[in-house]
Amino acid sequence: MSDLRADRRAGLQKTYRCAKAYPSLEELIKDPKVEAVFLATPAPEHVRHTLLCLAAGKHVLSAVPAAMTLEECAQLVGAVKQSGLTYMMGETSCWQQLTISARKFYQEGAFGRLFHVESEYHHPGLESLYFENGQRTWRHGLPPMHYPTHCTAHLLGITGERLVEVSCHGWGDDDPILKDNAYKNPFWNETALFRTNRGNSMRVAVWWRGAQKGGERARYYGDRMSFYQATLRASAAPSSSVRRRPRRKIAAASRGPRKWSSVMPRPRGGRPTSYRNPFATTAAMKALIVSLRTSSSIASSRLGSPWSTFTLPWPTLPLA
Ligand SMILES: NC(=O)c1ccc[n+]([C@@H]2O[C@H](COP(=O)([O-])OP(=O)(O)OC[C@H]3O[C@@H](n4cnc5c(N)ncnc54)[C@H](O)[C@@H]3O)[C@@H](O)[C@H]2O)c1
Repeated sequence: MSDLRADRRAGLQKTYRCAKAYPSLEELIKDPKVEAVFLATPAPEHVRHTLLCLAAGKHVLSAVPAAMTLEECAQLVGAVKQSGLTYMMGETSCWQQLTISARKFYQEGAFGRLFHVESEYHHPGLESLYFENGQRTWRHGLPPMHYPTHCTAHLLGITGERLVEVSCHGWGDDDPILKDNAYKNPFWNETALFRTNRGNSMRVAVWWRGAQKGGERARYYGDRMSFYQATLRASAAPSSSVRRRPRRKIAAASRGPRKWSSVMPRPRGGRPTSYRNPFATTAAMKALIVSLRTSSSIASSRLGSPWSTFTLPWPTLPLA
């Protein structure tokens, strides 16, 4: 493994019990024993780093997003084709339980025609990563739609269709970050409506500020069956509850004066909030899917309706 920062390198070595480390990616790829590289470097570096790895004869798994501009996308595709090596973008939404279940339903034909998908990646408080030691990081002012893959994977990772047309709207405020960032980005939140190459539609909401419940979610609408993810535990966070923006500690010197601050509502007697573990699959969930599938099909046949809709609760992890 490798990181430019010695402290992070040491941390990675300890976590992964890895004896060998390199001071940079550039040094790591000189090792002939290395066959493939996972790039978890800043997003604006992904294409440059991928090209370096491919040129050194290494297969590449890249963190998202694959690239930041259309020109970079073309450069990336060309280099991968020319290299004959394997390249993959590692989008985590493809392996969420929700996506795995939706993929299975799609493959079984359960949706009928899957004509619309809604997906959201809400991450209020992401600003806490905009500065480190008073310096701007690559995330400072990053346009939300430069990071759409957590959402787009909810459809593309299931059906393989392509997004061919888009209308997108952004929202911002008077925050100094939106007036001065490397990307010239004026928006905190961006919401897009896509048309796919099969004539279907998808709404994507990548939002980084506002009174919103964080997380990655999707809803699938078919002409025979729809598939929703339930909202958070009703006892801890009812969907109708008033939510305010979480308080985040951001280097005061790096930010303009704060206009307001607030805290997440604390459920009575509980922790401040809960965080969904997108990777957890429990035996109870599997059993629930089976029972819900059975009961929903029974319900639809009893009602004589071709529609069956059900929700799948996700396990929650307390926020440490
Ligand atoms: N769910 C997800 O899919 C998910 C979640 C978080 C982050 N990410 C992605 O993971 C990547 C890393 O995110 P992060 O928050 O850890 O970023 P970060 O900026 O905190 O860390 C990037 C690291 O890369 C190192 N680095 C940069 N250039 C290097 C080089 N030439 N050689 C060796 N090391 C180098 C830096 O020293 C730094 O420690 C990003 O692309 C981000 O988009 C994906």
